[in-house]
Amino acid sequence: MKQNIPGEFPKPVYDFKNNPLTREGFELGRKLFYDGRLSKDGYTACASCHQQFAAFSDFQHVFSHGVNSRFTRRNAPPLFNLAWQSEFHYDGGINHIELQPLSPMTGRDEMDNTIDSILATIRADAVYRKMFRSTFGNDTINTQRMLWALAQFTGNIVSANAKYDKMKKGKAVFNDWEQQGYIIFKERCAVCHTEPLFTDFKYHNIGLAVDTFLNDFGRMVITNDKKDSLLFKTPSLRNISRTDPYMHDGRYWGLSTAINHWQTCSPSDATADSLIVNGKPLEKMEVKYLVSFLHTLLDSSLLRDPMLADPVPGNMIHGPVQ
Ligand code: HEC
Ligand code: HEC
Repeated sequence: MKQNIPGEFPKPVYDFKNNPLTREGFELGRKLFYDGRLSKDGYTACASCHQQFAAFSDFQHVFSHGVNSRFTRRNAPPLFNLAWQSEFHYDGGINHIELQPLSPMTGRDEMDNTIDSILATIRADAVYRKMFRSTFGNDTINTQRMLWALAQFTGNIVSANAKYDKMKKGKAVFNDWEQQGYIIFKERCAVCHTEPLFTDFKYHNIGLAVDTFLNDFGRMVITNDKKDSLLFKTPSLRNISRTDPYMHDGRYWGLSTAINHWQTCSPSDATADSLIVNGKPLEKMEVKYLVSFLHTLLDSSLLRDPMLADPVPGNMIHGPVQ
């Protein structure tokens, strides 16, 4: 199987050099991603918080339900183009795609399991033994192999087929509003939401007041450096019309509400990133144009790709398989 690298994208950070991509490995990763038995209660698969029809974010959930309906403390981000990312989570606390799953697997508010217990479940399943054998040559099941397989799946969720991409290739034309929005976008947003991935992969403070219940200081939680207080990783804006609600804590419902932030955020907010402090507030019509443009970033082929769907169709509960 070949890594999908869209022509306009830069070189990916993760290139599967040490984890050779195969159809078998990808299928194994997909099965793991959709398997609720990897969690303590047997129901909380990766896919329960990362749903394909929502670009692998959590559809209309501010926070996600983990094991025992405990809530996560951040809004589940969408998953695509992960092979281009070197740091993960809103605070960049994880720096490798292969290591990332250890966090939800063992996180108390997520899958609340232990790696030993996950490996025991997988080893007891003859289907998994067969899949590990066909992927790795023998049926040794260990943490490294499990993480390699998961990375083959998550690292291959690629989104590059939106109207925007077709316009870039001359295969679609923007209408007036979309075009106006694109011009404003390039002036005001692209410095952080940089094309073609629509993120600079850096951390910024865009002047959102801290939620005093969550007390989430973003990047500072990881670095312990005051300078990093309230910095969050720039999210990609691809598929943004499907990933409601918005921001690390899901505080805004609706795309125009999120963009209204740029209408109201105070240019004198001393804590906000210097890239925006001198910007003038957006005008009402500019917000409308921007919304039109952002809708062109929806890649519906991603949401429908059968290769990325649950391998057991209709099994949305992902419960324990007898
Ligand atoms: C209970 C809900 C839940 C489950 C289950 C879950 N996640 Fe997540 N996921 C989240 C949340 C919330 C975040 C954001 C965490 C943060 O920023 O601190 C996240 C972040 C991520 C990211 C980082 C994305 C980025 O752009 O930085 C990846 C990759 C990911 N999850 C993959 C997985 C995989 C693989 C599994 C299964 C092993 C999984 N998740 C299980 C809720 C969940
Ligand atoms: C200084 C860098 C910067 C600029 C400029 C910027 N953004 Fe962002 N944007 C961010 C960061 C960082 C976040 C994440 C904030 C958080 O979650 O707390 C974000 C979040 C968003 C979100 C929510 C994404 C999600 O998945 O929840 C939208 C929508 C958005 N920005 C649109 C825009 C638009 C439209 C503009 C231009 C008017 C713009 N941004 C300009 C850095 C920037």
